[in-house]
Amino acid sequence: MDSFLVKNSGGLEGRIRVSGAKNAMLPLMAASILAEGKSVFENVPNLRDMKTMSSLLDMLGVEVEFKNGRLTADASAIQSEEAPYSLVKQMRASIYALAPLLVRQGHARVSLPGGCAWGPRPIDQHLKGLTALGARIKIDHGYIEATARKLKGTGIILSVPSVGATVNIMMAAVMARGKTVIENAAREPEIVNLAEALGEAGAKISGAGSSTIEVEGVKEISPLASRVIPDRIEAGTFAAAAVITGGEVIIENCRPDHMRAVIQVLKECGADIETIDDSMTVKGSNRRTRAVDIETGYYPSFPTDMQAQIMSVLGLASGSSSVVENIYADRFSHVPELRRLGADIHLDGNVAVVRGVKKLEGAPVMATDIRASSALILAGLVAEGETKILRIYHIDRGYERIEEKLRGLGADIKRVNEPH
Ligand code: EPU
Repeated sequence: MDSFLVKNSGGLEGRIRVSGAKNAMLPLMAASILAEGKSVFENVPNLRDMKTMSSLLDMLGVEVEFKNGRLTADASAIQSEEAPYSLVKQMRASIYALAPLLVRQGHARVSLPGGCAWGPRPIDQHLKGLTALGARIKIDHGYIEATARKLKGTGIILSVPSVGATVNIMMAAVMARGKTVIENAAREPEIVNLAEALGEAGAKISGAGSSTIEVEGVKEISPLASRVIPDRIEAGTFAAAAVITGGEVIIENCRPDHMRAVIQVLKECGADIETIDDSMTVKGSNRRTRAVDIETGYYPSFPTDMQAQIMSVLGLASGSSSVVENIYADRFSHVPELRRLGADIHLDGNVAVVRGVKKLEGAPVMATDIRASSALILAGLVAEGETKILRIYHIDRGYERIEEKLRGLGADIKRVNEPH
């Protein structure tokens, strides 16, 4: 198993390029099932989650090719309607196959995802939406069985603005009879990316990016062609790296307009941030960062996917910060690991109180999910001595060659392979 060895690296300096967004690409790949023919995607990151989704598409009969950031998915012939547990347990986003398979085949069998390291993560809103559109859904031996001859547009009010449910319902509505209105829809940029790609393929979707999305059903759509938006969480992680190390980093191929809440918090921490079109310069302060109280929320609020990384930054701030996690109450698996490095963090329910310490000390730690892993890298970059991060396979799910990219900024990080 691979581990990272990270050493105190001083201020990171230089330019770093952001990859395409995993969480935008996963729905796009699933949406390729909707159209007969070859969909083409550009700016595709080379990540383990992309490989898992490719394996799923492959099992369904979609021909997938990936080379140099370009992925094609030819769904001319679908041969299976089943997303098995073996893949869904590796990656919850496999649930995205549910709606397109149902639309294309009239039937889908997708394993229930189950819980995850930080809580139950239900899918009731996905199922509620599909049922409202006319699908018959039953749960059978751990699988969702969905059947529908023709879906029919309707009004759906989501109880929570779930990204996944919005994606599944939007895909289901594209070729339904009549109009679907999704209220309390997720507003994330990844939803807009999908809606635009579907729109260019002939779907009639309006309102993506707002809380009300309207989909007027069409008979069919052509294959998709889309350039994947830059990964706002990867960009935010690099920005946090500049801030925690007190360096100066130019982050290229990013969308600062997708990162307003993160930029605001990092500025409150004392960073100097300038944005120009698709790039931003982040300059950390040469004094200790300031404590800031944050709360995660639905887009455009501060993203839960940046909560762990900002906690590393706040761990060294002068003063006390509170971090309230409003999306996944238990998403704190990085906290005990940051404590091993000397951070002073107290948890009470979904609130973490972070009392800034003057220094962290390197130690062996364990990565527990994608974002927890990157938070530990950030802490390792400033901790005294060496930090060994075990179980980094999580990070390869969501960050493309992160150690190479950070080394380009002067980070002392290397991947080692040894039995644990
Ligand atoms: N929720 C429900 N019922 C549902 C669906 C969601 O109650 O049917 C709740 C969840 O429990 C949670 C909230 O709604 O409290 C938001 O969940 P959402 O469905 O939006 O999350 P997701 O679609 O499962 C995506 C990202 C996550 C990211 C969340 C929140 C993908 C593939 N995953 O998950 O990304 O944390 O949105 O922004 O897009 C990551 O990349 O590290 C990651 C975990």
